[in-house]
Amino acid sequence: MSIAGRWRIVEMPDYVEDYADMMEPASIEFAADGSANSPSAASPGRSSAGPTAIMSPSPGRATMKWTKSKVMAGPKSSKMAPSPAKSASTTATKLTSSPASGFLQQPVKLARKITGRANIIAFTNGFHGVSIGALSCTGNRYHRAAAGQLLGGVARLPYDGYLGSSVDTADYLDHLLSDPSSGVDAPAAVIVETVQGEGGLNVAGTEWLQKVAAIARKHRALLIVDDIQVGVGRTDSFFSFEAAGLRPDIVTMAKSISGYGLPMALVLIDRQLDRWEPGEHNGTFRGNCHAFVTARAALEQFWRTDSLVASVRAKGNLLKSRLEQIAQKYDPSRASTKGRGMMRGIDLKSGEVAGQVISKAFKRGLIVETSGPKDEVVKCLPPLVIGEDQLSQGLDILEGAIDSVIGSTVNTAA
Ligand SMILES: Cc1ncc(COP(=O)(O)O)c(C=O)c1O
Repeated sequence: MSIAGRWRIVEMPDYVEDYADMMEPASIEFAADGSANSPSAASPGRSSAGPTAIMSPSPGRATMKWTKSKVMAGPKSSKMAPSPAKSASTTATKLTSSPASGFLQQPVKLARKITGRANIIAFTNGFHGVSIGALSCTGNRYHRAAAGQLLGGVARLPYDGYLGSSVDTADYLDHLLSDPSSGVDAPAAVIVETVQGEGGLNVAGTEWLQKVAAIARKHRALLIVDDIQVGVGRTDSFFSFEAAGLRPDIVTMAKSISGYGLPMALVLIDRQLDRWEPGEHNGTFRGNCHAFVTARAALEQFWRTDSLVASVRAKGNLLKSRLEQIAQKYDPSRASTKGRGMMRGIDLKSGEVAGQVISKAFKRGLIVETSGPKDEVVKCLPPLVIGEDQLSQGLDILEGAIDSVIGSTVNTAA
């Protein structure tokens, strides 16, 4: 396991000091190397190498003050030298928002502010939330239609595999950005999910991701990885992009980061890119104290050792093989598997069929949802801590529901 070393969660909001007994000391650090890669308690005010800043959680008490928190020292191995103003005792903003998509406005705004460019590159089937700024990056027509206004400032490019396996859509991106007459303006950022959750469990290839990251660098755009659904161990490493060895400029996280179902969203920003001035990006509902407490506990409980990673890997394999067994009963034109880690599903090729399957499953005691452009993919996102027995029980219910809807246990292609 390796939690990428550039990130630190800095101090808690001032009012959280009320909870000092529960969460002392007041900062959490993601360590830089494998040996100390669990989040370890760092003394407040301690100087620490290693990059960046972070923002924080979701809706909470209305009274949180805007504060600047202390982040120390320059990066250990940053691609840019720390600016004098940001060395020794630089600042990191703490930002919070209620839905994660509200949070997603922040990286987009920051990328525009830093680069002085307006355009953002987002991908087909990308889902980044439904508040206006985030919705501009989201592909889904149903959600976009609810905006009631034009959604601008985003150029939509095909995701990996969108045009079939013979078209390298990363090359296409590079081509467009290199051509001054392509009509695609130089972007402030490229925002990408390594696996598109809501978009239908589309898995980007490692090479494609690496290429997109290199293209972003080449064209001096920031790389934003939206790890809101796929991060925090869902694909077995803490960050979903570790396997591809990416080094994003900004990372968004939410969902299970609080470890307890409490609302929390994080934006991790490369230390060198933390250019927010105090209060420049703020809001009333900032910080849910309890989420800080549970997030810290979850990080310490689950990420101190490799055991969660190992168990997610084992259960991910179980999920994969069971879903493949189920899909193989049917012609590939009716069912095929998709996904990565513990984020997998069955593409039933029809939103209607998938809808019937999940409603049958619900009646039999299983909550499972759909995703994809036509809601055609039954998406399994079991809790990462689920036991194998319970996972198998859930898959039995799902199999029964699929069998009863498709109406046959025989591969119709056979
Ligand atoms: C990748 C991704 N980004 C952003 C969001 C938006 O999060 P929220 O619904 O909390 O606004 C989601 C929600 O599912 C998501 O999957």
